[in-house]
Amino acid sequence: DRSGPLEGRHVLVTAGPTHEPIDPVRYIANRSSGKQGFAIAAAAAAAGARVTLVAGPVQLETPPGVTRIDVQTARDMANAVRDALPADVAVMTAAVADWRASDVMDQKLKKRSSAPPALRLEENPDILVSLGSSDKRPALLIGFAAETENVVENARAKRERKRADWIVANDVSGGVGKSVMGGADNRVHLVTESGVEDWPEMPKDRVAARLVERIAAALEDRND
Ligand code: C5P
Repeated sequence: DRSGPLEGRHVLVTAGPTHEPIDPVRYIANRSSGKQGFAIAAAAAAAGARVTLVAGPVQLETPPGVTRIDVQTARDMANAVRDALPADVAVMTAAVADWRASDVMDQKLKKRSSAPPALRLEENPDILVSLGSSDKRPALLIGFAAETENVVENARAKRERKRADWIVANDVSGGVGKSVMGGADNRVHLVTESGVEDWPEMPKDRVAARLVERIAAALEDRND
């Protein structure tokens, strides 16, 4: 019942932050709103794809025609992504927490008169890296890179290191007060095997529509 340039394709999208618990009431998180990822899921569904959206904790409506799986932690997200495979395309927009607390407390940590508690952290799995080297690697693997400096240079390096086909890089140096993080607009650079394109600032749903057009064209080129 779906038609469009992505008809017959399965597109997997991750979006939002992850929450890493410290105790029953506290967690480590970041300022990702999930808007860009949800916009990409919506655009892919509108283009006829079957879309699985693995979402961290966000305040957003599920786009029409999208299958949404809600998760909290990076490890939950990694499992949900693995369970959603195979996919023709994966677009990893989630701002996955780099670290989680090594020991999650069963009870709320108490304020003490002595020193504040030390938080031991350990590294979370890198979902994009795992997909890049998986035997179920999607034909087109797209990562995002939120950078505050050397945006394009870092994105190029990230593309190689994570074995992604494309990296969509954006400058988040303005923080949440500026347009990008949490805002409705985005200004991105698309880093591919053949170079870098600087896209003008535009609404996140326009970025999504344009990226989906590029995805459809790339799949057609590869003819798979
Ligand atoms: O290294 P950095 O976190 O900047 O990489 C960002 C890209 O990697 C994004 O596509 C993000 O969704 C993905 N990523 C991931 N798992 C992590 C960290 C990042 O999938 N643990």
